[in-house]
Amino acid sequence: MQQILTITSSAREQESISSQLSMMTAQEIEPYFYDSQIIQRDLSNSELPLMTNQWVDAYYTDKSQRNSGHIASLKRSDFLINELKSSSTLIIGMPIYNFGMPAVLKAYFDLICRAGSTYKITENDHIGLLEDRPTYIVVASSKIAINSEDDNATPHLVKILNLIGIYDIHLIDATQLQSKNIGKRIAAATHQIEEFIFQHYGEPATETA
Ligand SMILES: Cc1cc2nc3c(=O)[nH]c(=O)nc-3n(C[C@H](O)[C@H](O)[C@H](O)COP(=O)(O)O)c2cc1C
Repeated sequence: MQQILTITSSAREQESISSQLSMMTAQEIEPYFYDSQIIQRDLSNSELPLMTNQWVDAYYTDKSQRNSGHIASLKRSDFLINELKSSSTLIIGMPIYNFGMPAVLKAYFDLICRAGSTYKITENDHIGLLEDRPTYIVVASSKIAINSEDDNATPHLVKILNLIGIYDIHLIDATQLQSKNIGKRIAAATHQIEEFIFQHYGEPATETA
């Protein structure tokens, strides 16, 4: 079973462009597999915990020494890490808020990035422990251009994904939506999604007799 994990982080619901384009990407990828499932993780409605002293204490305690309190503190983080590890394709919807990524998306990756689980520390570097997988990031903004000087969200997210071992990253540009050309900007982002999917998967899977 191929798991297509869609992580969305807009505070908006139906109107969110990054969420709409993320779901569209997932739905376009799904037919390429005989057996697949889309998992939707909408972070704005998931009440993710922020890191606390208790959480960091549990994280820093060796696995063999953790008590039931430590295990309980890390439960959500363990669940999200397993969910991410089980995904074969990752799609992230990311609006730019105040020059950066939404706080919920940062909170999600604070739970995901754990030395010993998702990356390991070597003498001079970090090594990601996740298998690489196709990852699509839909970046939405009203004014800031993707990867411009003011975009502190995209390079940060790419760096975090690299930390845990994900490098097969494709950026879908839904930025600068405030312009008069919003329709053209969304059409270009949609075209980009189709191009990426064709490059990765070619023709959709067909049943053989
Ligand atoms: C709280 C907040 C902060 C925002 N900050 C920025 C910003 O710094 N730069 C920008 O270009 N757009 C900013 N925007 C606009 C959003 O990035 C834009 O509306 C985007 O389409 C939101 O994504 P969504 O359509 O998926 O909800 C902000 C929007 C909100 C609600």
